[in-house]
Amino acid sequence: MKRKDFIAWNAALLGGLVLPLKGRTAASPEEIGQAAAAGNEDALWEVVRDQFLLDPEWTFLNFGGLGACPLPVLNSLIEWNQVEERAPSAGHDEKLWNGVKERLAKLLGKSCRMEDLALIGGATEGVNTIVNGLPLKKGDEVITSTHEHVAVNSALLNRRYKDGIVIRLFEPDMASGPGNVGRIAKLINGRTRLIFISHVTCSTGQRFPEKEIADLARARGIWFALDGAQAPVNVPFDIVDCGVDFYTCSTHKWVMGPKRTGFLYVRQGLLDTLRPQILGGGSSERQDIWKQELILYPTAQRYEYGTQNDALFYAMGKAVDFVRAIGVERIWARGRSMAERFYEGLKYIPGVERLSPEEEAYRSCMIGFRMKTHDYTVVNDHLAKDKIRVRGVTEGKLNSIRVSFFLNNRMEDVTKILESLKKLAG
Ligand SMILES: Cc1ncc(COP(=O)(O)O)c(C=O)c1O
Repeated sequence: MKRKDFIAWNAALLGGLVLPLKGRTAASPEEIGQAAAAGNEDALWEVVRDQFLLDPEWTFLNFGGLGACPLPVLNSLIEWNQVEERAPSAGHDEKLWNGVKERLAKLLGKSCRMEDLALIGGATEGVNTIVNGLPLKKGDEVITSTHEHVAVNSALLNRRYKDGIVIRLFEPDMASGPGNVGRIAKLINGRTRLIFISHVTCSTGQRFPEKEIADLARARGIWFALDGAQAPVNVPFDIVDCGVDFYTCSTHKWVMGPKRTGFLYVRQGLLDTLRPQILGGGSSERQDIWKQELILYPTAQRYEYGTQNDALFYAMGKAVDFVRAIGVERIWARGRSMAERFYEGLKYIPGVERLSPEEEAYRSCMIGFRMKTHDYTVVNDHLAKDKIRVRGVTEGKLNSIRVSFFLNNRMEDVTKILESLKKLAG
């Protein structure tokens, strides 16, 4: 899109075109910020809740599965699609694109640089870039856990078939967070090249002790990658401080961006270690087929390629603004208070086995459990009959249920799901 088209259209939109989404208008980051600053928690969360189109008939406890976009994000998406359909134009506005990265970098920590971020389609894409882009060869070993998402498992298995890497597995320690560092350390040997695990697992919402694992990896000269699909906004952290080499996330879950948005972070100094896997327009500063020369961008932009759906990413920037207007710590405190009440309540339901870590410090806003008396599909169906949306978990062969508590929820949602489970338990 040409910059002048953008300015003309944006002016028109700002000039009063308010899109009717269920007759409601989106709150601006300033309005959200004012509600957050006013200090009335209940009032803030009602304003926030009103920003979602989520079906009021249902209790939505599945942001870990797929998030919902708040109205400012949806409006931005619609507006930008209109702008783009008016004057289709390949390429994107660098200033706007980089502005999204700048705001995202601020969300990810005080010293995160936009140059270290690539805007991509989601964690699956990022995971595959990391697994395939590192110079691994036959016999090189990768350590991962048994609780990983299919995205990590498939990418590793594919590299195993293709190049003969060796995958070493550890069972997550649910009793002790630091116990996981010990389990990883036991698998390290002279052939270990990479540790690739979730930051927060999709199976039980377990947070691994990222800094300690990063220290271990650094001391042994091993790359450390985190699949952060479930982490940003679910848990507070600083991406640079945590010492990770490579990090990827889908921003259509807890970050509340449009579907098929995400990012890849590559620690400063590692760009030439991680070879991009898909290249095209936008990946390189210069390419010359006659001279047989390819000069990649000296930033993480080298992992971006081809025509982009920029409307998605401009709207993702709005999601970042929405989160920052409230504050990650505050969202975390809200989600955790409900998750903890749920975790505690599960203790009193006959037949329930709690699967999230025993130490509170390693629990997130997602809680996992199963019922010894009922298959997880029965539990899932039962909750659905009560119009409660959760997710069944087959990862790690857990056959369990995962419940996400987030800024759209109220304490009464915790009571509702506990009551429903009590009914099932008899
Ligand atoms: C831990 C984890 N990794 C990777 C993914 C894949 O994300 P996507 O399908 O958005 O690429 C998910 C999705 O649920 C996930 O939970």
